[in-house]
Amino acid sequence: MALEKTLAIFGYPLGHTMSPVMHNAAAEALGEPYRFLAYEVRPENFEAAFRGSLAMGFGGICITIPHKIAIHGLVDELSEDARVMGAVNVVTFGEGGKTTGHNTDGIGCARALEEETGETPEGKRCLLIGAGGAARAVGVKLAQSGAAHIEIRNRTSEKAVALARFIETNIPGAKVSGGGLGDLAGAAADREIIVNTTSQGMKGDPERESATPLPEEAIPEGAICTDAVYNPVDTAFLLAAKRRGARTVTGIGWFVNQGAAAWKLWTGTDMPKDLVRRKVLEVLGAA
Ligand code: ATR
Repeated sequence: MALEKTLAIFGYPLGHTMSPVMHNAAAEALGEPYRFLAYEVRPENFEAAFRGSLAMGFGGICITIPHKIAIHGLVDELSEDARVMGAVNVVTFGEGGKTTGHNTDGIGCARALEEETGETPEGKRCLLIGAGGAARAVGVKLAQSGAAHIEIRNRTSEKAVALARFIETNIPGAKVSGGGLGDLAGAAADREIIVNTTSQGMKGDPERESATPLPEEAIPEGAICTDAVYNPVDTAFLLAAKRRGARTVTGIGWFVNQGAAAWKLWTGTDMPKDLVRRKVLEVLGAA
């Protein structure tokens, strides 16, 4: 029997990552010889852990906060998405130990949108709330997918302006502007896709969990609203969007699709996404 290969996620702190649930469910369903483990790795130990995983013949790794940038200097090459998005969330170990950094976060969001609404960002006016790492990956993907215009709004307006400029510079033909949270309702009024990438709505702190990045009355009825936050699955923002009659795409779709893209890179096989999604929802208590 083939030796089981280890897949792993490295982060610090890791908290309640659902990645082991997702990838182990895929391995079991497909009968593939992989086991996925989660390791809390402090920043000062990250390089040693990375080199160790390569030395021990891991099948591949996922990288999360705070290592998504540090990994850049350690891999042999970057995929085009990882280069433009400025962050790596997946590493593959190739022939002769060649390491490649990838970013599947943007793909996760774009595929979830298409899978769950049948629509793509092409030709659409988008509002992206937040300007951190997730916003950069999604903003780049929306621009690459041919969005007509992307408005980026963030609590710290300079970061939104800088991200808008970055995307316009790096993605040919992209039309992007950035600003603060002032008149967010006005910014949302004509938008067809609205994406939250801030931590508003995330489980943990009750005040944060009940917060929405956009006031309910500002959500356009016909919009597609989606959230990077997947715990809780139905965030305050998505519940408000539903009440307004907007279509919603939960962060679970992003999570499963970014994971499926990673799984494909590591194993060459297709993740059974529906089964995995059900399993993740079950463990989150949201099935
Ligand atoms: P990620 O990599 O997940 O995007 P991040 O880089 O820490 O995480 O970004 C978090 C985002 O949530 C940022 O856009 C942040 O706004 P700032 O750039 O102004 O910090 C946003 N955010 C966090 N808390 C927020 C709050 N209470 N209200 C509005 N935006 C918030």
